[in-house]
Amino acid sequence: MSTPAPESPKSGSASMRYFFIWLLGLVIGIIATVMLVRAWQARQDPFPKAIMTVQKFHMTALKHNLEQNRCAATDTIPHLQTLRRTADDLESAFPDLARDDRFVKHASDFRRVLDASLASPPMNCAGVKQAIALIDDQCKACHDDFNK
Ligand code: HEC
Repeated sequence: MSTPAPESPKSGSASMRYFFIWLLGLVIGIIATVMLVRAWQARQDPFPKAIMTVQKFHMTALKHNLEQNRCAATDTIPHLQTLRRTADDLESAFPDLARDDRFVKHASDFRRVLDASLASPPMNCAGVKQAIALIDDQCKACHDDFNK
């Protein structure tokens, strides 16, 4: 008379198998997700965000200058110049938006305000405060329409 093989070890090895298949699926899933995210990131153009980060940096620097009462022309002009130079690249950084006349208008207005500010640079903190307000208005005007 043969004794039937005990049930429990057999079903135990089956559940181990399922566990490993589940684990394998999980690992493959994670690897595939990472690959997809990397591929998506690689397709993103860093230029638009980079130019906005630079604009933000120089606006923040001007605001810090104001807080610290550093309002000499030599403190202010380099930031205004970089804002103005990088403003030339707005259309190149946002080629799709640049097909919209409103975007080109915002970019032109922004450059005009910066040109005016550079033509008669602020010489004191009241002037720097006013220049910051005028420039901020331009940042905001474009963002209201295009940075959703
Ligand atoms: C002519 C249009 C225009 C002007 C002017 C403009 N921006 Fe922007 N900005 C954009 C657009 C469009 C985006 C959205 C970018 C994106 O998400 O790709 C943006 C996004 C940003 C962001 C978020 C960037 C990020 O990492 O998502 C910051 C910060 C910023 N702008 C700062 C500024 C500052 C500071 C100024 C003014 C000194 C300014 N911008 C002027 C169009 C403009």
